[in-house]
Amino acid sequence: MKLERSCYCGEPREQDVGKELVLCGWVHSRRDHGGVIFVDLRDRSGIVQLVFNPEHSPQSHASAGALRNEYVLVARGQLRARSDDTVNPNMPTGKVELMVGELEILNASRPSPFAIDDEAVVTENTRLKFRYLDLRRPFMQKFLRLRHEVCRLSRELLNSEGFLEVETPMLTRSTPEGARDYLVPSRVNQGSFFALPQSPQLFKQLLMVSGLDRYYQIARCFRDEDLRADRQPEFTQIDLEMSFAGSEAVMNLVEGLLKKLFSELAGLEFNAAFPRMPYAEAMARFGSDRPDTRFGLELKDLTEVFAGSGFKVFKQAVDGGGAVKAIVVKGGAAMSRKEIDDLGSYASDFGAKGMAWIKINEGQWQSPIVKFFSDGEKQRLGEVLEIEDGDLVLFASDSEQVVHAVLGALRCKIAADRDLIDPSRFDFLWVTEFPMFEWNDDDKRYQALHHPFTALHPDDGIEVLDSLSGGPGTALRSDAYDIVLNGVELGGGSVRIHQPQLQRKVFEALGIGEEEAAEKFGFLVEALGYGAPPHAGLALGLDRLVAMLAGTDSIRDVIAFPKTQRAACLLTQAPSTVDAAQLRGLGLRVDL
Ligand code: AMO
Ligand code: AMP
Repeated sequence: MKLERSCYCGEPREQDVGKELVLCGWVHSRRDHGGVIFVDLRDRSGIVQLVFNPEHSPQSHASAGALRNEYVLVARGQLRARSDDTVNPNMPTGKVELMVGELEILNASRPSPFAIDDEAVVTENTRLKFRYLDLRRPFMQKFLRLRHEVCRLSRELLNSEGFLEVETPMLTRSTPEGARDYLVPSRVNQGSFFALPQSPQLFKQLLMVSGLDRYYQIARCFRDEDLRADRQPEFTQIDLEMSFAGSEAVMNLVEGLLKKLFSELAGLEFNAAFPRMPYAEAMARFGSDRPDTRFGLELKDLTEVFAGSGFKVFKQAVDGGGAVKAIVVKGGAAMSRKEIDDLGSYASDFGAKGMAWIKINEGQWQSPIVKFFSDGEKQRLGEVLEIEDGDLVLFASDSEQVVHAVLGALRCKIAADRDLIDPSRFDFLWVTEFPMFEWNDDDKRYQALHHPFTALHPDDGIEVLDSLSGGPGTALRSDAYDIVLNGVELGGGSVRIHQPQLQRKVFEALGIGEEEAAEKFGFLVEALGYGAPPHAGLALGLDRLVAMLAGTDSIRDVIAFPKTQRAACLLTQAPSTVDAAQLRGLGLRVDL
């Protein structure tokens, strides 16, 4: 390239008219106007119009005849004002154009499989296969820039708060964040495997033992789990840890960080402290530990109303220790039978065995189940639900866990379907006081809800744990906290156990035997024995955070090179098979 660029395409303005400029970029479009050729030239900053006039420069006009969309060029010329009737008010550079005197075509391009603009409707697979072209589109460039800004501002704030950025290993041991590990075979130690980190959890705790005091990292994490719109096998956390600090210090810091990001990048100001809600309340009112509080449709508990009911489905649930709960959809009585059936089949995806309902139309209760209710039950139902004309009541009865999952999902679907969500609202919420342990029905044992290094809530001391026999139960609370935004879990963290004897007790309560604990986490317990300071931390999901700021539903839109739902990269065709020789070198054989 002989010419040196003087500025980006999106930059020239009226005050630059008369200047000699050299611009580089991609041909966005080309129009031949009976002799004069117009080219819209695009780069990451925007678009500018080039003019090729045969009288002004016959040579560059002749070369411009060969230009096609997505060709790459450099052009030198004089910037001039467009005539009044050709001004384009929709473009920042719409009042000017470059009269080209010299053109160098730097590279040709095959026809793009889709138009490089925000409007093109392209299938996800095509976008991912040609990701480098997808990333040429302005909205994708905006998203990547936003991601960069989130990282830059986060670093800026954390640096100013005395945090040190430290890298932790990618080739490591399994970390217990609850997903399956990605394994990497060791060639040097055949038969042994590294695990890619599910998070830097253990290392950041070790850094606290080292006296680093305040650590952060924009850390890549790997989890082999079922993928959804908000989950990728490889994702990024803004991960941090603080010594001599408890939950308040971490929550205040993270709240400050989020307020700064939303103020600077979305123009949203949050003056009040983010509200807090204990886990138990979130589950009872919203059926979820990450409630979307932008709309009502709260759960109402009817378990007592239907204890001993004549309606067997409800009675059996209550007798079995379960619950009967309902949500009331205002104006929902106008729904058709088909709409209600569709909600019922949606509910079944979350474990519902049925979905009883009542429509209240002109004082009449229409329902397949009301005939089983006593007058007393009907009266109590009306009172608890504050039933009005036009309401639709949807019931779930089952174990409390299933009831919450079903109604929690239904309320979100109904709110979305019926446009009950104000899109301008950003409801941050801290969910606190999580249970320490949860029952894993598949493995028939208790497991840590957050991770096994989480401390007990200060009001549920270790004495309580000591006094429990026959399993730790789910009543004990931990000192863990999640930050939720509009029903999305943005981040989570906890105060950690910093005393080895306590850590051993929690392993014991989790049924992790001494041998297993020593094998898996012996190094951590040992390190805690060398003067570990009290410490606490949190990790924000960077991809989810940027997606929320960008207003997109899928974190794939804010990751440069994401994987598909089937955990594959369509661009590089990874994962792939490898040479037999490569496998032999690792001492491995594929047995399929
Ligand atoms: P946790 O497992 O809650 O905590 O993860 C923290 C945050 O990371 C994001 N996240 C994901 N984002 C995209 N794809 C995924 N597969 C995925 N999994 C998690 C979420 C989540 O809130 N070590 C602890 C943090 C701590 O205790 O300090 C941890 O990893 O936004
Ligand atoms: P059945 O007696 O199974 O025909 O159910 C009668 C009504 O109760 C139907 O409207 C079912 O959808 C509803 N139903 C069944 N099981 C449940 C449940 N677990 N929770 C709520 N409603 C249910």
